[in-house]
Amino acid sequence: MLDITLFKDEFLSFLKEEVQVTEPKKLYEPITYILDLGGKRLRPVLALMGADAFGVNYKEAMHAAAAVEVFHNFTLLHDDIMDDAPLRRKKATVHEKWDVNTAILSGDAMLILSYKFLEFYEGDIYKQLMQVFNKTALEVCEGQQYDMDFETREVVSIEEYIKMIGLKTSVLVAAALKMGAVIAGASEQDATKIYDFGLNLGIAFQLQDDYLDAFGDPETFGKQVGGDIIENKKTYLYIQALANASERQKNELVAWYAKNLESNAEKISSVKQIFTSSGAAEMTKKEIKSYTEKAFAVLGEINLEASKMLVLRKFGEDLMVRKV
Ligand code: IPE
Ligand code: IPE
Ligand code: MG
Ligand code: MG
Ligand code: MG
Repeated sequence: MLDITLFKDEFLSFLKEEVQVTEPKKLYEPITYILDLGGKRLRPVLALMGADAFGVNYKEAMHAAAAVEVFHNFTLLHDDIMDDAPLRRKKATVHEKWDVNTAILSGDAMLILSYKFLEFYEGDIYKQLMQVFNKTALEVCEGQQYDMDFETREVVSIEEYIKMIGLKTSVLVAAALKMGAVIAGASEQDATKIYDFGLNLGIAFQLQDDYLDAFGDPETFGKQVGGDIIENKKTYLYIQALANASERQKNELVAWYAKNLESNAEKISSVKQIFTSSGAAEMTKKEIKSYTEKAFAVLGEINLEASKMLVLRKFGEDLMVRKV
């Protein structure tokens, strides 16, 4: 759809203009490195779509879009340290290309840069944007902590998992849309509805991320396939496999997750096999569809122009079948 491509292109030229390398190079080069690596740019596009949907020129949300994307990329720098991830968007992660200290400090600077973008706004809009952004940023940290805690927890329920991904991922997707709506002066009710649309979409999105982490194509996925299995992440795949596999397979799965190995190829292929044969892989796909449909149901409650509604729906549909 034309709007989505236009929003993305316009956003990219804005970002290029706004974030450039200055001294000290070792602080700023990793920032432009990660920001130039690509990525789907979902969150900034959603911020622009949020503004556009409620009737202002999308360009008014450009600074908020940049705040959200730079914040997202900051979380990736630190997340990749925490997850010991070698690859991001088909390239070396910042802590691998430089070192951990560099990824920490450049990440910190990016967090601050993201707030600087919000200085562009004034008065009540500024206040509301800060409220959404602060709440969201703290929730993302909470989600990340639960994600780490669950690595060493034996039992994690589906409810706990959904709550965790809601915090680490969905709230930022939702906040991007809401910030656009706030800039457009949408009613509080509409801003909340578009936020809820984003929350459900974000859950579907993270479920898909977890699915691709195991079953994605290494050629296209851009991250290390099997990374979650290596790190013993209690994803939806794992939780459903534990609930539905045979007794023998359950024991096997628990045993694999208790191991931290030098070489992980056998662990990854055995665990994936259990994810598939237990039906967990299929259940994950169903759940992705179900949360996407929930998102569309909420979207349908908002009084939007048909063409705006269509673009948002198309966006959600594309996410469900994404490979990257
Ligand atoms: C990666 O986000 C982190 C998750 C919340 C799954 P994206 O999949 O949006 O990453 P990029 O920005 O497109 O690379
Ligand atoms: C991402 O979760 C959450 C945040 C970055 C806050 P993941 O750890 O699953 O993201 P990827 O798979 O590394 O992109
Ligand atoms: Mg990660
Ligand atoms: Mg992580
Ligand atoms: Mg992931």
